[in-house]
Amino acid sequence: MNTQTIEEILREYATPAYVFDLDVLRERVETIQKCLQQKQVKLCYAMKANPFLVGAMEGLVERFEVCSPGEFRICERQKLPIEHLVISGVNKEPADMFRIAAKYQGRGIFTVESLQQLELLASCARESGYPLKVLVRISSGNQFGVDFEQAKEVFASKEKYPGLRLLGIQYYSGTQKKLAMIQRELEKLDGWILELQKQGAQISELEYGPGFCVPYFQTDSKECLEEQLKDFMEFIRQMKFQGKVTLEMGRFLTADCGSFLTTLVERKETGGQIYGIVDGGIHHINYYGQTMAMKLPFVQHISRGGAAWNQGMVQLAAMPGVQKPGTQTEEKWNICGSLCTTADVIVKQLPLTGVQVGDVLVFERTGAYSVTEGINLFLSRDLPSVLCYSKKQGVRCLRKSQPTDMLNGPAIET
Ligand SMILES: Cc1ncc(COP(=O)(O)O)c(C=O)c1O
Repeated sequence: MNTQTIEEILREYATPAYVFDLDVLRERVETIQKCLQQKQVKLCYAMKANPFLVGAMEGLVERFEVCSPGEFRICERQKLPIEHLVISGVNKEPADMFRIAAKYQGRGIFTVESLQQLELLASCARESGYPLKVLVRISSGNQFGVDFEQAKEVFASKEKYPGLRLLGIQYYSGTQKKLAMIQRELEKLDGWILELQKQGAQISELEYGPGFCVPYFQTDSKECLEEQLKDFMEFIRQMKFQGKVTLEMGRFLTADCGSFLTTLVERKETGGQIYGIVDGGIHHINYYGQTMAMKLPFVQHISRGGAAWNQGMVQLAAMPGVQKPGTQTEEKWNICGSLCTTADVIVKQLPLTGVQVGDVLVFERTGAYSVTEGINLFLSRDLPSVLCYSKKQGVRCLRKSQPTDMLNGPAIET
């Protein structure tokens, strides 16, 4: 996001705040879809990465992967057509499944994560009187999905489940994966599909989460989006499977469009180290692969004229220890958040020049998982506001900053 836009946002909104640039999002998703279109590979947005982007994604992707009743309610509020939803995940709550099957007359797609879920969905189809479309998730060696041998049995015994239409398989094994691993997975999936087809199963769909890698740190290799997807499409072309392929993705679609804005509220030096305390923290930012805060993410420094953040309340400039303005030599900062834990270090030894208390640091590539995965209730600090921006619509507030203390204490009856 460019500095001028961030400065405009900061004139109106306080930190900490997320800003999601919807133009960046649109451009990226359209580019990705264009690279995939030769073989009609479609996109499914795994909304867990950032539920605030569901509305913006409508029309850009074909499907949304929904993994909880809460995520489903978000889609309902956004009025997403049920036909675009893949209802996935463990702990499919029976009451919820019966409600969805009946209310939406069997529309949408459901994944099967276990034999128990298979029975549950069969009951939903029976009770509602509507057939349900199903993808059988094959496990990658964890609590999700069923073993391939079990999947074979499911497809072989499809007559036992007349209310279920078995469309094909779903597979996701993890995130931040290299292309070579994705290639191996596609070969494995192709083999499985072939084996299922040989035993008479009709596999018309493969829904696959490739877990494409996002470069989060300055030492990561630069992303070559088109080249990477060209190689990927070559792997798809080499598959014997000729049915529909849908890529279920979160991080790769959304990381790029997010910025997290946080104000430097204090500078101190102890043990020969410079510490900068910010009003955000590790409960707001999650860079997958960050180890002991040693890797440098992409950070922008927005100068706010020193004490601007608290003008009129305290005369910061007069306080002992506050940095003299205008120091133009580069310094290495340890940027720490506002939580009471030594773990709250966002980045160590971040080189910054001329930074003063009151300035804003913009942590880039925070569009995926940061807004949802943080330990937001720890310390009862307020939730950051969530903003989105586009050239056409300007800045809009999707969620105001909210207190969490009411969630962390017993409800007091009045
Ligand atoms: C089943 C499934 N599909 C897709 C995704 C999205 O993964 P990524 O963000 O790596 O694209 C996840 C993430 O946890 C997932 O569990």
